Amino acid sequence: MHRQAGSVPAWALVPAIVLFAALSAFSGPAAAQRKDRAGKEVVDAVCAACHASGKEGAPRIGDAAAWSGRAAQGLTALTAHAITGIRKMPAHGGSPGVSDVELQRAIVYMVNNSGGNWVEPLGPAPAAARTSETIVQAQCARCHQTGKDGAPKIGDRTAWTARMSKGLDHLVASAVHGHGPMPSRGAMPDLSREEIRGAILYMFNHGLPPVQPPPPAAAADPHHKLVSGMDIYLGMIGAEAMRASQADAQKRMDIPSGKGYYHLNISLADNKSHLPVSDAQVTMQVSDGMTVQTKALGPVAANNAVSYGNFFQFSSGNAYNITTEIKRPGQASPVVANFEFRAP
Ligand code: HEC
Ligand code: HEC
Repeated sequence: MHRQAGSVPAWALVPAIVLFAALSAFSGPAAAQRKDRAGKEVVDAVCAACHASGKEGAPRIGDAAAWSGRAAQGLTALTAHAITGIRKMPAHGGSPGVSDVELQRAIVYMVNNSGGNWVEPLGPAPAAARTSETIVQAQCARCHQTGKDGAPKIGDRTAWTARMSKGLDHLVASAVHGHGPMPSRGAMPDLSREEIRGAILYMFNHGLPPVQPPPPAAAADPHHKLVSGMDIYLGMIGAEAMRASQADAQKRMDIPSGKGYYHLNISLADNKSHLPVSDAQVTMQVSDGMTVQTKALGPVAANNAVSYGNFFQFSSGNAYNITTEIKRPGQASPVVANFEFRAP
C-alpha cells in the first residue's frame, strides 16, 4: 500500500471555509467541551460525500464485498489510514475537525452497514482499564460463554487444548482474521493482538487456580546447582594462588607442582534447612573429551564447615565438563551435578 506520487495534498481538498470553522472550533474553549459525535453523524456530515456513491473508488456504504477485504486489516489499521489518508482518500476524510475517535466510530458505522458486525469504540479508554477479564466478559463471552455456533467454551480445557495444538500464535492470528462464525477480532475491532492473546489465555485458564508466578530467576550462577534438594557449590582455586597464600601459613597442603593445576572444591548444603552436608562421599570426573581425570574428593575443613576437594590439571584453552557424584549414607542412588569450565 503506497500513496500515489503527486496526489493532491489533503488540505487542498478542504474548502477554506470548512477548514476555518474547524480550526476555530479547536482553538476556543468550546473545543475542550465538544463531545465526540456518533459514527452516523460523522458519516452523514463528512464521509458520505464519497462513501455513499463510491466516488473515486471509495468503498461504498452497503457494499459488503468492498468493505470485507478492508475490514480484515482491523480497525486500528483502517483508522490509521483514515487519519493519514490513503491514495484518493483524504486525511480525516478531508475534515481535520473529525477526531480520531469519531473516525473510528464512522468506520465502524460504515463497516456495520456493509455486512460487518463491529462494536463501536467507546472512546480513548485508558489501556490499563481493559483487562483480559473485562474484554472476555464484555465481548467474547457473548458466544464463548454458552458455546454458541460451536465456539469453544470459556474454561473448557479439552476444547481449547485441541485448538491450542498449533500454538498460541496461530490462535491469535486466527482470532484476528476471524473464520466461519467467529468474527474478526471477536467483533471488537480495536483490540490489539496482545489483548486478544490475553483474552484467549483467560478463556483457556478460566476456572483453574491462579498460576503462581515463578520467583524472579536468580542470576544463574554457573558454580551453583540445585539437585534433589541439595545445593551444590563448585569452588576453584589455581594452584599458583594457593602456593602464594600458603607461603607463610602453618598448615600446608600438598600442592602439586606443574602447570595448570586447580584445587576443585565442592560444598554441600540441604536446600531446605541450609545445613551443611558433611557426611557425603564425593567423587569428581573432569574431562575435556580427550582426557578424563577421576578422583575422590577429600574433606577440607574451612569456616567450621566441611567441603570436599582435590587437585585437577587443566590445559589452557580447553573446555571441560566437570561431573561430581555425591553419595550419602542411606541413599540408594548418588546425586550427580554437572559444571562447565574453560581453562584460561
Ligand atoms: C473525498 C472523498 C472521501 C471522503 C470525504 C472520505 N473518503 Fe474514505 N475513502 C475515499 C477513497 C477514494 C477511498 C479508497 C482509497 C483507496 O484505497 O484507494 C477511501 C477509503 C477509506 C477507507 C479504507 C482505507 C483502507 O485502508 O482500505 C476508510 C477506512 C475510509 N475511507 C474512511 C473514511 C471516513 C471515516 C471518512 C469520513 C470521516 C471518509 N473516509 C471520507 C474517499 C473519501
Ligand atoms: C459472535 C460470536 C463470537 C464472538 C463475539 C467471539 N467469538 Fe471466538 N469463536 C466463535 C465461534 C463460533 C468459534 C468457533 C469457530 C470455528 O472454529 O468454527 C470461535 C473460535 C474462536 C477461537 C479459536 C480459533 C481457532 O482457530 O480455532 C478463538 C481463539 C476465539 N474464538 C477468540 C475469541 C476472542 C478472543 C473473542 C473476544 C475478543 C471472541 N472469540 C469473540 C464465536 C465468537
